[in-house]
Amino acid sequence: MSRRVASPDSVPGVGSPVIRAVIPAAGLGTRLLPATKSIPKEMLPIVDKPVVQLVIEEAVASGITEVHLVTRREKRAIEDHFSPDPELEASLRKMGREDLVERLHAVTGRCRVSYIRQEQPLGLGHAIQLARPHVGDEPFAVLLGDAIIAPFAHAPPGLRQLMDAHAQTQGSVVAVHRVPEDRVSRYGIVEGEASSPDRPDLLRVRRLVEKPEPGRAPSDLAIAGRYILTPAIFECLAGITPGAAGEMQLTDALDLLARKESLHALTWRARRYDIGDRADYVRCFIEFALRRPETAETVRSLAQRLLGGSGATE
Ligand code: G1P
Repeated sequence: MSRRVASPDSVPGVGSPVIRAVIPAAGLGTRLLPATKSIPKEMLPIVDKPVVQLVIEEAVASGITEVHLVTRREKRAIEDHFSPDPELEASLRKMGREDLVERLHAVTGRCRVSYIRQEQPLGLGHAIQLARPHVGDEPFAVLLGDAIIAPFAHAPPGLRQLMDAHAQTQGSVVAVHRVPEDRVSRYGIVEGEASSPDRPDLLRVRRLVEKPEPGRAPSDLAIAGRYILTPAIFECLAGITPGAAGEMQLTDALDLLARKESLHALTWRARRYDIGDRADYVRCFIEFALRRPETAETVRSLAQRLLGGSGATE
């Protein structure tokens, strides 16, 4: 049974489907240097697709039709990736590879992609604020461009799970996952209480802290990089000052939002990969290769041989 857990107040557009998404992809990718010196981390491949394409595929599978990518000047490769390439397509057609042409259109054929330039690295909050003229006066989605979300078996795409929670609460929703105590300082952490006894996975948020010092985190629930936000977030963004790392933090604006409107945190049924983290990037690559029919068998037997101890792969 679906039950409303908050009143809609008078948020414009609430109740209609969320169709616009903002994807911030302007970070420096320092943890993956030197690989990310000339390739944005969002363009690193996971088997044969760049990270940002997988993020947009999640958005499209969830119902998004309009994507606004926030990039910086050095990230032309992202724009090139989603631009038509008539010469490449003509060559592929000559080779009889219509299937590859279709794969090139997999994303752009299903949603509109546009770009917003973030000229200065002023933080995630600033990136979202730049999107204000593009998202209109309706709730919109935010998907961090360096996080890949793999839903658990039989669960909907990550963003879809948030949209369903938004449809129920009629307010802003952030996805969270539990993290070990020694990692809380890497994330935005939420504090709240269960919104209703039948939804222990959906908390009404009271407070949020961006990258709390060890021992000072209000919980172990970390913001996972997917959000549905009402337009009230823009007023809140206008009201914050630089926070953690001297940047404009979206989490600080969410902390203000939680005092004005309903804000919920969903412990979703999904696994998150942080592409900026070397080990997580490798794990993501291997797990996706194990899921793809074209690569699954070879990679599985390779892993078994390596873990069997011989280390030999020939
Ligand atoms: C950002 C957000 C943080 C969130 C994290 C998830 O931090 O500010 O609240 O928990 O993404 O990846 P960043 O990783 O950009 O430092």
